[in-house]
Amino acid sequence: MTATREVGGLRLAVRAWKQAGLRVALVPTMGALHAGHLDLVRQARAQADRVVMSIFVNPTQFGPNEDLARYPRPLERDLALAAEVGTDLVFNPTVETLYPGPTRLGISIAGMADHLCGASRPGHFNGVLQVVNKLFNLVQPDVAVFGQKDIQQYRLIETMVAEFDHPIRLVRAATVREPDGLALSSRNVYLSAEERAKAPALFRELNRVVAEIGGGGSVSRSIAEAKARLAGDGFKDDYLEVVDYDSLAPVAQVAAGATHIAAVAQYLGTTRLIDNVIFPP
Ligand code: PAF
Repeated sequence: MTATREVGGLRLAVRAWKQAGLRVALVPTMGALHAGHLDLVRQARAQADRVVMSIFVNPTQFGPNEDLARYPRPLERDLALAAEVGTDLVFNPTVETLYPGPTRLGISIAGMADHLCGASRPGHFNGVLQVVNKLFNLVQPDVAVFGQKDIQQYRLIETMVAEFDHPIRLVRAATVREPDGLALSSRNVYLSAEERAKAPALFRELNRVVAEIGGGGSVSRSIAEAKARLAGDGFKDDYLEVVDYDSLAPVAQVAAGATHIAAVAQYLGTTRLIDNVIFPP
């Protein structure tokens, strides 16, 4: 495995692979790798001949009061893990490399980015789409792999790929979980032992909501009851919603034949945890 901070080194490597007729997959990350990221690389390997992983803590997707400064950046460990799991090239540019001057153009998606995580993280998805669009243009992969855990991000990237005609096939990788159901996240390291013990309640409640409304129960009642139980366990509510998979619009009742997402974001202490279940599976 090689690692480069430079766009030139990245382009050279990818061009050589493509000239040799090899298919290239991209796994974009912000580092602090965990088993979920490593699974993305494995899925990328299954879809392509060469795997590029980007490691870049993108400042434009963090709000002024978010955890940009304290976001974990264990680069040596990340490089060792990336190599171990079969990454061919790590692209870990500096902020100055990706954003050498003021950025005047932005991407926003009407309607799909202003609720769920978008409501409490204004501007977050503009930053995500900005950097993913840049990474797609820089790497020009055949395939890009993203995790289901960030489902709103995935749907927005899917929309960008379709509307901007990126010739890239997206792969949505299932969320990797701890044995007790907690979705793996780089932010789980912020949890105290007590918070960590409570955290699996998120996935339990999502499954309960899905089972209740799948069996004909009221969406609003099921959500209200789940939120009340989570509040009783010490969670601070951001959202718990059931939305349509395509539009991401909240639904009052589930429609036969349509795909839905039960999505949640809650705070435990200062740590914001997200998770979701797509149903029917
Ligand atoms: O999901 C992430 O880690 C980030 O949002 C991404 C896609 C790497 C863009 O910075």
